[in-house]
Amino acid sequence: MTRRILVTSALPYVNGHIHIGHLVEYLQTDMFVRFLRLQGHEVAFICADDVHGTATMIAARNRGVPESAIIAEMGAAHQQDFADFGIRFDHYGSTDSESNRASVHAIWAALRAGGHVTSREVTQLYDPKAGTFLADRFVKGTCPKCGAPDQYGDSCDKCSSTFSPTELKDAVSTLSGAKPELRSATHHFVQLEHFRSFLEGWVGGGGHLHPDMAKWVKNTFLREGEPLRDWDVSRPAPYFGFEIPDAPGHYFYVWLDAPVGYVASTRDWCAKTGQDWTAWWQGGKAEIHHVIGKDIAYFHTLFWPANLHAVGWNLPTKVHIHGFLTVNGEKMSKSKGTFVRARTYLDHLDPAWLRYYYAAKLNGTAEDLDMNLGEFEAKVNADLIGKVVNLASRTARFVPQLTASYPDDGGLFARAAADGAAIAEAYERLDTAHACRLIMAAADRANEFVERAAPWALKKDPAKAEELARACTVSLNLFRQLCVYLAPVLPRFAEEAGRLLNAPITTWSDAQRPVTGNAIAAYQNLMGRVDAVKVQAMVDASKVESPAAPAAAASSLQPPASSPSEPLAATIAFDDFAKVDLRVAQVLSAEDVPKAKKIVKLRVSLGSLGERTIFAGIKAAFPDVAVLVGRKIVVVANLAPRTMSFGVSEGMVIAAGEAPNAFLLTPDAGAEPGQRLH
Ligand code: 2FM
Ligand code: ZN
Repeated sequence: MTRRILVTSALPYVNGHIHIGHLVEYLQTDMFVRFLRLQGHEVAFICADDVHGTATMIAARNRGVPESAIIAEMGAAHQQDFADFGIRFDHYGSTDSESNRASVHAIWAALRAGGHVTSREVTQLYDPKAGTFLADRFVKGTCPKCGAPDQYGDSCDKCSSTFSPTELKDAVSTLSGAKPELRSATHHFVQLEHFRSFLEGWVGGGGHLHPDMAKWVKNTFLREGEPLRDWDVSRPAPYFGFEIPDAPGHYFYVWLDAPVGYVASTRDWCAKTGQDWTAWWQGGKAEIHHVIGKDIAYFHTLFWPANLHAVGWNLPTKVHIHGFLTVNGEKMSKSKGTFVRARTYLDHLDPAWLRYYYAAKLNGTAEDLDMNLGEFEAKVNADLIGKVVNLASRTARFVPQLTASYPDDGGLFARAAADGAAIAEAYERLDTAHACRLIMAAADRANEFVERAAPWALKKDPAKAEELARACTVSLNLFRQLCVYLAPVLPRFAEEAGRLLNAPITTWSDAQRPVTGNAIAAYQNLMGRVDAVKVQAMVDASKVESPAAPAAAASSLQPPASSPSEPLAATIAFDDFAKVDLRVAQVLSAEDVPKAKKIVKLRVSLGSLGERTIFAGIKAAFPDVAVLVGRKIVVVANLAPRTMSFGVSEGMVIAAGEAPNAFLLTPDAGAEPGQRLH
C-alpha cells in the first residue's frame, strides 16, 4: 500500500556551519527518505534554517549587518553542504517566513482560546551594555557550589551541579563582558500541565517513540505527582523573532516557532508545487516522521505535540531519536581537529564514504555513535571496495553483454532477493547498521562465488567463453542486487551501477529480478579507496577552523578595533583593477625557510590552473606554519615571478595588516581553488 509520508530533520541553527555531528542526522534522514521512495511511497522531505533568537541578533549587531544578511549567507552555505552530501530536500525554508508567522499565530490563538496561557513577572540577568536579557548560556562565572571558574549560567562542568544564573559568583555577560544586573519583565507561559493526560497517552501509546525513549520521557518529565512546569514562551524586546500579536514588545521564544517551521516549510513547498498543505498537516492520511537528536527530545515529545494538539493539527506518527557523535571516542574537539565542518570533509574526502560509515553504525536507537577514523578507513575500504566494487571491477571488463537467460547460481540471487524483506524492515526502523550487515553478508556470498568461478582464469581460455559469460552475468547481477539495497545509502553509486548494466535502479523490487541480455557499458572505477593521508589532511585542516558556535559568534559586542588608518590610495580606473588577477588558493604545504626568519614557503593549489610556490612574509603571525595547510586563502596570481635568494615566488598572498598582526583572508564556504575574485 502506498503511504504519504512527511519526513523532517531538525532545523539547524543559522548561527553555525554544518559539521559532521549534524550530518549524522541529515544523512540518516536522507537514507530513510530515499528508502521510502524506492518502496514507492509518496514522500515529502522538509527542512529549514532555524533563524530566530538572541544569538542571531548579536551576530548581526557584531557584524553591522541586518539579520537577513546572515540568514541568506548561512542558508546558502547550509544548503550547499547538504546538496554536496547528496541530502535532497523537497523544500528548505527559513523560520522567519511569513508562512511561519501565520502558523505560529494560529497556534498562539488556539493556546489563548483554550485558556492555556498565563503571564507573570520574571526577574532575570540583564546586560546593560548589550541592552538585552541574558539566556543562561550568555552568562559565565564561578560555580556557587565548588568554586570552579568560567562556568555557564545553568550548570557546572566540574561538579555537575545545576543552578540559576543569578546564583553564579562574579557573573559576567559573554556578550559584552559587562556585569549583569537583575531586571524584571513580563513573560508569557504555556501551562503544559493542562496537556498532561493527552501527553501521557501520546507518549505511552501508539508507538510514536522507541520504547526506551517513551520510558525515558515518562520517567523524566511525566512523573506522577510532579506537575509539568509552565513553559516560558516569550522574551521581552530586544529579541530577534516574531512579535506576539496580543503582547506588543514581547516576542515568541525561538523554541516556540522552530518546530512550527516544519509546518511552514511544508506550506511553502505546497504553495510552490500547487498542493494543499492541509492534506499533510490536517486530517488526511499523511504520516509525519521527525528525526532528531536526543538533546531536543524534550521539545519534540512534550511542547510540540501539546501545541499541535491545541491547534488541532496532525500529531507526529513517529519521532526517531538518535544519539550524539563522538570522534575517536571523545567529544569533537577543535584543538584535535575532530570538529570537522561538512565543507572541510568535502574538501578532502568522498561524501559516499561518510554516508556508508554512518549507515553501518546507526541502529535506530539513541545510543551515541563513535566515528573512529581508523575504523572509518578500514570499514569503507573493506566493505565498499573489497566486497561490493570488487564484484564489478573483477568481471565487468571481461564480457560485452549479459547472457540471454540468468544462469544457475546455486540459489545466490534468490537468497539475497529473499533478504529484501528483512533489509527493508531494518531501514524502516532506521536500523541501517542491521541492513548493512545483511547486505554485506550477501556480498560475502557473492565474492565466494566469484573466487570459485575465477573469471580472470576463464578469460585466458577461449574455449571457456560461455562459462565466462555466465560467471560474469551472475557476478554483475549479484552486484546490482547489492546496489539496489545500498541505493538509499549510496544513491550516486547506485546510479553508476544502473548505467554500467543499462538498467537504472528505480524501485526496491529491482532486487527481485536479474537483468539479462543487456549490453555492459565501459567500466569506470566506481569508487576510490579511503586514503589515511587525506583523512589526516582533513583533521589538520579542521585544526585551523572554528565552528562559529552561537556563543562564539556572539562573543563580543565591542566594535571592531579600527585599524591604524592607512591613507586611501589614489583612485584607479576599473581597467587597472581588472589587471590584478586575484584567485582562491588552497595551501597544500607550508614550510619554514631557514635562511629567512620572517618568510614562510607555501605550496598552493589554484585548482585547474595548477600549483604555485609562494614565499610570504607572514611567519611572525604563524609561528606554527602547519596550521596553514588546508586553508583556503586569496593570492595575486598574475604577479611576475620574483627571484629571491631562497627561491622563486610565483604569486603573492593577500593579508590584512602586517606580521605579527597579519590576518589572512578566507573565502566563504563553497569557494573553490582557482576561482577568480571580482
Ligand atoms: O537544536 C537545534 O539545532 C535546533 N535548531 C533544532 C530545531 S528543530 C525544530 F524544532 F525546529
Ligand atoms: Zn561546580
